[in-house]
Amino acid sequence: MKKIFTSSIGKKLVMGFTGVFLISFLIVHCYINALVFLPNGIEKYLAAGHFMGTNFIVRTMEVGLMAGIILHIVQGLMLTVQNRSKRPVAYNVAPGNKSSKWYSRSMGLLGTLILLFLVLHLTHFWMPNRYEQHFGTGHEINLYEKMELVFQNPWIVLVYVLGCISLAWHLIHGFWSAFQTLGLYTPKYAALIKGIGMAFSIIVPLIFIAMPVAFHFGWLPPSSSYVPAH
Ligand code: HEM
Repeated sequence: MKKIFTSSIGKKLVMGFTGVFLISFLIVHCYINALVFLPNGIEKYLAAGHFMGTNFIVRTMEVGLMAGIILHIVQGLMLTVQNRSKRPVAYNVAPGNKSSKWYSRSMGLLGTLILLFLVLHLTHFWMPNRYEQHFGTGHEINLYEKMELVFQNPWIVLVYVLGCISLAWHLIHGFWSAFQTLGLYTPKYAALIKGIGMAFSIIVPLIFIAMPVAFHFGWLPPSSSYVPAH
């Protein structure tokens, strides 16, 4: 059991499993964000946010999500350090060599950029909301209104855009790498998995980017235009 967290292949397996779990989280998060672009988007988004923020099962899963993120980061860092220390003298190859793609060699750097984005992101929305709820399942803040406010700042929008671009690069490598580690990347389905991975890694970050950009340029209805039914 100890070997799962200490051996190289064990660490890769943990990266694969947590990676697939985090990808499933991204699908749900992206779907909920995309609701703002639909007719009656504010209502739909707030209803979904209310469900996610107050449902006991979802909130319990949140603990697993945070643990998954931390495990993915810690194991990723250890894997990078371990791979480097195996060879005290760095490989004498020019950057940009043909043996591996740039994004595959930069998982550590891209992961760090995403981590910085994530810390900022959680302090914008997640922390104030949980604080308002007294870390329970009580009344939440109006997240639509909060996003409208936060994304007025062009620098914050820029950080979000860069964070999502880093996420795209990270996913392009991570998606098929997770399939490979978990033994699901068979020659028969290689092209299909690569295609789905590439489409996912581009479409999902683009949808994420659309949200802060649309708020910033006023392409979304203002929160003041929404009057709750009751
Ligand atoms: C760029 C557009 C994005 C917007 C507008 C956005 C918006 C939000 C909002 C409003 C919340 C608060 C939910 C709550 O109170 O529970 C949230 C939570 C969260 N977001 Fe994002 N998000 C974006 C992108 C991302 C990306 C790219 C990631 C991951 C790489 C991410 C990871 C998270 C995490 C981990 C949480 C906490 C989830 C939880 O409540 O358990 N977000 N996001």
